[in-house]
Amino acid sequence: MRLSGKTVLVTGASTGIGRTLALGCAHAGADIILNCHTDRAGADAAAAEIRTLGRRALVLRADLRRVKQIDRMFAAARKQFPRLDVLINNAGLTGWAGFFDTTEEKWDTVLDTNLKGTFFCSLAAARWMRDTKTPGSIVNVSTQCAELAVKNLVAYGTSKAGIHGLTKQLAVELAALGIRVNTFAPGPVNVARNLRDDPDYRRVWGAMIPLGRTAEPEEMIGPALFLASNDSSYITGQTLFVDGGWTVQGMVPASNVAKAAKKNK
Ligand SMILES: NC(=O)c1ccc[n+]([C@@H]2O[C@H](COP(=O)([O-])OP(=O)(O)OC[C@H]3O[C@@H](n4cnc5c(N)ncnc54)[C@H](OP(=O)(O)O)[C@@H]3O)[C@@H](O)[C@H]2O)c1
Repeated sequence: MRLSGKTVLVTGASTGIGRTLALGCAHAGADIILNCHTDRAGADAAAAEIRTLGRRALVLRADLRRVKQIDRMFAAARKQFPRLDVLINNAGLTGWAGFFDTTEEKWDTVLDTNLKGTFFCSLAAARWMRDTKTPGSIVNVSTQCAELAVKNLVAYGTSKAGIHGLTKQLAVELAALGIRVNTFAPGPVNVARNLRDDPDYRRVWGAMIPLGRTAEPEEMIGPALFLASNDSSYITGQTLFVDGGWTVQGMVPASNVAKAAKKNK
């Protein structure tokens, strides 16, 4: 019950990691504001589940590429909840595209959703916390692709690397108000979208990861709760990688690995 009595707003809470985090925060005692974009039914279903836990849940639709819609969402939330304790900036788009096929529209869609949306939601949340004098925590969701370049993800990787920069910037800007800003960066997670795109997702991606497997969405709850709650009260401006060891692994030729294994026999 680390978030007992707190109010948490989760963006992109209709499905995937966002839905899991919304439920995880509710299990930890929080009332939840769930943002969705196209999947209202998914967010409504998550809200219904949260209410069965005895928590409040409010669904608000907003396209986070549009600042006016973000501001309307926060205005509606402020009418229903006296304060905001935690913002989880989870909504995001991957937008796979070859480098030479990255159009202006593709670039803008990915950058506006992932980076601009994160900034303007953070701004609205920080204003709310400032006005009520109740400093809270902002938790961003990035990716290991922010640290390691991945082919065909130039817009995505750039947008998420921007979130790492924004995390430091916001942490410094908001520290005087007592508002903390941190990020966690997942590796490959078994969300419905990934499993739909590649039915062999667990095996193919899991083979590249030191822990030998992809993550379950529920494994994102612990890191999010840590950064959202007072457990991390003296941590701000940091990024925590939740990637099974992917970003600390150096590459060596496969032949070298095989040779070493033979020598050790
Ligand atoms: N899954 C992974 O392997 C993985 C790995 C690293 C990082 N991440 C990050 O984790 C976060 C969640 O990813 P996921 O895998 O759970 O994705 P997902 O299942 O595809 O869900 C994406 C969510 O983002 C919302 N969204 C997209 N565009 C939006 C917009 N313009 N305005 C408002 N909401 C919007 C969607 O809302 P609607 O459905 O309502 O349209 C949906 O709730 C993302 O930031 C992603 O980059 C995921």
